[in-house]
Amino acid sequence: AGAAAAPPRSPRFSELTGGDVDFFRGLLGDRGVVTDPDALEPYNSDWMRKYRGRSRLALRPASTEQAAAALARCSARRLAVVPQGGNTGLVGGSVPVHDEVVLSLGAMNQIISFDEASGVLVAQAGCVLQALDDYLAPRGFMMPLDLGAKGSCQIGGNVSTNAGGLRLLRYGSLHGSVLGLEVALADGSVLDLLSVLRKDNTGYDLKQLFIGAEGSLGVVTAVAVQCAPRPASVQLAFLAVPSFGAVRAVLSMAKRRLGEVLSACEFLDAASMATAVEFLPGAANPLQGQQQQQQQQQQQQQQQQPGSGGGSGSGASAAETEGPGQPPFYMLIETHGSDAAHDAEKLERFLEAAMGEGLVGDGTIAASDAQAAAIWRVREGVTEALTRRGPVFKYDLSIPLPELYALVEAVRARMDGLPGVRVVGYGHVGDGNLHLNVSVPRGGAGGGSTSSNPGSSSSSSSSSSSSGGSGGGGRGGARWSEAELSAAVLERLEPFVYEWTSERGGSISAEHGLGLMKAEAIGYSKPANAVALMARVKALFDPAGILNPYKVLPAAALKAG
Ligand code: FAD
Ligand code: MLT
Ligand code: ZN
Repeated sequence: AGAAAAPPRSPRFSELTGGDVDFFRGLLGDRGVVTDPDALEPYNSDWMRKYRGRSRLALRPASTEQAAAALARCSARRLAVVPQGGNTGLVGGSVPVHDEVVLSLGAMNQIISFDEASGVLVAQAGCVLQALDDYLAPRGFMMPLDLGAKGSCQIGGNVSTNAGGLRLLRYGSLHGSVLGLEVALADGSVLDLLSVLRKDNTGYDLKQLFIGAEGSLGVVTAVAVQCAPRPASVQLAFLAVPSFGAVRAVLSMAKRRLGEVLSACEFLDAASMATAVEFLPGAANPLQGQQQQQQQQQQQQQQQQPGSGGGSGSGASAAETEGPGQPPFYMLIETHGSDAAHDAEKLERFLEAAMGEGLVGDGTIAASDAQAAAIWRVREGVTEALTRRGPVFKYDLSIPLPELYALVEAVRARMDGLPGVRVVGYGHVGDGNLHLNVSVPRGGAGGGSTSSNPGSSSSSSSSSSSSGGSGGGGRGGARWSEAELSAAVLERLEPFVYEWTSERGGSISAEHGLGLMKAEAIGYSKPANAVALMARVKALFDPAGILNPYKVLPAAALKAG
């Protein structure tokens, strides 16, 4: 539910035959070939259950040679192919659109080498990110990226999406930390760029083309990655922040005061928090106990000192000013350093200063690993919580910081009159990356209620909701089905979100990629001649166009390229 209509199947591609399946069985053995419809289901359906293909064949090569030979056959027979890693992608890139063959890297999950002196890890593409990090931990190193999907996503998928995640602020993008790649090309040849060198300026840096190519240029079979020393000290603060202006000010202050140890700066709004608390089993607002205690103390003080005013001054709780116990924003500020006492003191002083300047209402510093994990669970779990609530329209945007949250407010206003529709904003504020999500309640909603945006004041007061929508009004209290609500939401979201972002010089794909969802929207963030060049690069690497068709680039550019 919630996905836009898929493009038609291209007649350029052949239909799979029994002869093809026999060939692949001969190549990969029975374990490397999946044809049973039930067993194919997870390969055909994405993490959100939003995009669904109808492939009749998934291949699971165990080596680079097998992957390359499978591709050679697909090229020769004009069989379209979808490379698939952990299938956690959020833009419909990892599943077939029609009957493409799925090439799953999951069986290629061996660590090839690790050099404890340099910290360079070489691994097959199908290694799960969490497994790699677990391997590195006792050796004193960590993966240079971390994301909520770490338990399922694979390093080959991370590279192919150029995944950003929670600590890009500190450890940089994969364009910097990937030192080498091995890639099986569409024609079945293998491009060996698996360098472990820090510096290598011999000609064009071709590996960069595959980082973020979303499986459209080749199949990544192995990765050499520069890992970071694991920090001896990790500290995490969780803050309630009274406005988005204050969120920006806290970020600047964190950069200034925590500079060399700052490792993450994330934010979530009240609607994200409410969704996490409601839909994630076991999740709780990390400040809730504290807020309740504070409110009780304040009530007691007020009872004891009538007329004292209370709550004024820099230490005022945001909860007091923002409605019933709902600060509008929360932030996670994490440090990675080498001296726990020093880092803890720095973070405490930072928190005091932020509170002193009135930028933070409540705040807590995790006192144990378990507390830190519970806080991260809330932030990382927003994605899962939203999916549990119902269909979600997800936008992953880079927006200049001063206007980053204005889009959430504008979209909230546009959803006026659509019952139960919830607009949430969270993301990697330290990188200028907003995740704008619009959630439709599962099963639809009655017309009685109009707002479902906890902590927001804009949803009920807007007057600008009429532009571009199908009109929420005029239905009285009638019930909206899930499909009706989804259609009305999508109509109000696109192209509005893309135009709004483009007008401000933002990116419509900060870290998730274009996939199927945004292939036709690339023009909002890239000029036409750049898209035309991309299509020519695609034609060079994949002349028959068998790799991940319908994704990444617009159909018209691909035809011309
Ligand atoms: P898949 O989903 O299988 O594939 C993604 C794309 O890469 C597809 O186009 C596929 O064809 C291609 N591909 C996969 N493997 C290969 C390969 N070996 N060779 C060539 N092409 C390949 N993303 C972020 O950037 N930051 C986040 O913080 C983040 N958090 C997430 C949290 C959750 C809960 C979820 C569900 C997703 C999150 N994502 C995030 C999105 C997603 O997890 C990442 O994009 C991840 O890197 C995808 O890896 P994967 O192995 O699951 O790839
Ligand atoms: C995140 O930062 O949580 C991920 O990118 C997933 C999402 O956008 O929901
Ligand atoms: Zn993200």
